[in-house]
Amino acid sequence: MAGEFDKVYQAAATNPSQFWAEAAQQVDWMKPWDAVLDDSEAPYYRWFVGGQINACYNAVDRHVEAGRGEQLAIIYDSPVTGNKGSLTYAQLQTRVAQFASVLQDNGILKGDRVLVYMPMVPEAIIAMLACARIGAIHSVVFGGFAASELAVRIDDAGAKLVVTASCGIEPSRVIEYMPLVNGAIELSQHKPEKVVVLQREQCPVQLQKGRDIDWLSAEQAAKPSDCVAVAATDPLYILYTSGTTGKPKGVVKDTGGSVVSLNWTMQNIYNVQPGDVYWAASDVGWVVGHSYIVYGPLFGGNTTIVFEGKPVGTPDPGTFWRIIEEYKVKVLFTAPTAFRAIKKEDPNGEYVKKYDLSCLQSLFMAGERLDPSTLQWAQGKLGIPVIDHWWQTETGWAICSNCLGIEHLPVVQGSPTRPVPGYEMAVLDEAGQPIKSGEIGALVVKLPLPPGTFPTLWNAKQRYFDSYLSKFPGYYETGDAGYIDENGYVFVMARTDDVINVAGHRLSTGAMEEVLAAHPDVAECAVIGVNDALKGELPLGLVVLSSNSQRSQDDIRAETMQMVRDRIGPVAAFKLIAVVSALPKTRSGKVLRGTMKKIADNTEWVPPATIDDPAVLDGITEALQGLGYAQGDNIPT
Ligand code: COA
Ligand code: AMP
Repeated sequence: MAGEFDKVYQAAATNPSQFWAEAAQQVDWMKPWDAVLDDSEAPYYRWFVGGQINACYNAVDRHVEAGRGEQLAIIYDSPVTGNKGSLTYAQLQTRVAQFASVLQDNGILKGDRVLVYMPMVPEAIIAMLACARIGAIHSVVFGGFAASELAVRIDDAGAKLVVTASCGIEPSRVIEYMPLVNGAIELSQHKPEKVVVLQREQCPVQLQKGRDIDWLSAEQAAKPSDCVAVAATDPLYILYTSGTTGKPKGVVKDTGGSVVSLNWTMQNIYNVQPGDVYWAASDVGWVVGHSYIVYGPLFGGNTTIVFEGKPVGTPDPGTFWRIIEEYKVKVLFTAPTAFRAIKKEDPNGEYVKKYDLSCLQSLFMAGERLDPSTLQWAQGKLGIPVIDHWWQTETGWAICSNCLGIEHLPVVQGSPTRPVPGYEMAVLDEAGQPIKSGEIGALVVKLPLPPGTFPTLWNAKQRYFDSYLSKFPGYYETGDAGYIDENGYVFVMARTDDVINVAGHRLSTGAMEEVLAAHPDVAECAVIGVNDALKGELPLGLVVLSSNSQRSQDDIRAETMQMVRDRIGPVAAFKLIAVVSALPKTRSGKVLRGTMKKIADNTEWVPPATIDDPAVLDGITEALQGLGYAQGDNIPT
């Protein structure tokens, strides 16, 4: 209905407490809240203070009790193994309740941290829900990260137990998880006491006596555990994300806010009703997986899909369409890079035509900017609304979106539409002054952030304040730059920090620089994100060797690539590296990463007035050209 969006948006803006209290009535509480919003410690805000709730109960048990026990909760489809399966809500309840007992039998109490390092199998969801059931805090780590990244997360979270599988499966290879888990535990200062292992037939492993537990036999022997009441403000999970240094940020999500907000988004943003099949083709290791493979669709009583495969090559670019047809998917959510991969292999959409996609009502994209050519291709081939929406690990749900369940606003290419009810946005200049409409500045959100967004960083309240709240008092600094047009549409243009987006995965160039700097022959280095036609961005390293280095450039390139793979993980996709004689700097010594990126992407650039030695840029241009950049044919749009 025309005007409906404005009405809902205004309701959330003028009386957030009433708005979110109404949303909170849609979920089940063990004890109602005393205050919807506690602002007594602003700029730190808390939602639903005094309330008690359980996220697993809201995701699983309440649907069984409401008579939806026989509805499918999870569909598992794994083109990499050839396996398919499903779990009804009743079956999911049994498995989660028994696995929760396994955790308890192995010493896990309310508030303990459990690290989950799992491939895309239903057990990944079971592990997360089992933690939520007993009030333990899960910290899921994406399978593409290396042992040392796992170790950093074990240490920071103080994980008491690790839940893992014997392997993950990539199209080209089986990834043995146990050497990674063992390596991480060896590296970590804090030692988890137990490791629960899901044995997969592709790679059974020898379990360590006294430490390791065989998942399935333990689950079968366990008695079901009940949901415990936790404070609405208690953490549901910690999810580490890239910051500006090698030390990732432990983004915390609280329980009450997550249940209320994610449940609200299912109908209001995605326009799905209980019983609808909703598919987020992502990974449980990312925030999209937490919010929209696991919690959101299950809170909403939907059927969620656990897909263990890739958009292409498993076995062909028709996989997504097969899944949509086979399981009657109503809404698909994925990253633009997945569609670019499909489009590259099937530009004319021949595979799209082979399937009946009449069930699919909308496609949502996030994780990176939706470039107009991908938007047009998707819209043209599917003939349904293609919705770009913008969000972050920190917020857990969309800051800006076309809210299809409220009102379908006109789509404007290049924009994730307008702020979602609950988010009030501004664009500020360096001095914190509002910028006039249409001009680029820092995208910020007025405090308080709505429920379900991060109330803090794990054990790092000061870092939370310094990273997000200090620069623009009264606002949350998103780390993205962009503008808002005269119709209130937001345009997200770039990051303001050194975070890059590789195939929808958020990575820190600072963390990669720390790895390169550890190479004994590297005197100086810089990593920049360069545009890439498939993955959106790719990291590119420039290194200056120490004067006494005797090694060949080929050796240095191979070794530094391997170091990033070993220390950060294959997901960094760090394969571009050039040896240069010097890095361009300002007279005060600041490396000109932005200028190098512009040269690489062949966008307009002028040497900054503060540059120390402009001639250095010639060497950089030559090196970038040697890698196929600085020529302008690598840009997605
Ligand atoms: N476990 C172990 N390794 C993993 C992994 C996992 N879960 N996921 C990826 N990797 C590895 C890959 O095997 C690859 O290794 P390689 O260098 O040996 O080939 C490397 O990490 C990079 O992987 P990826 O980024 O997936 O690149 P790709 O070339 O294999 O596939 C796409 C390209 C576009 C098909 C793929 O990136 C994709 O599906 N992207 C969608 C992203 C997405 O859903 N993001 C979620 C945010 S919304
Ligand atoms: P992550 O925390 O991994 O979800 O990454 C969040 C970052 O990805 C944001 O801060 C943006 O830089 C980028 N991002 C996510 N969605 C979009 C989008 N729709 N448009 C532009 N950038 C996006």
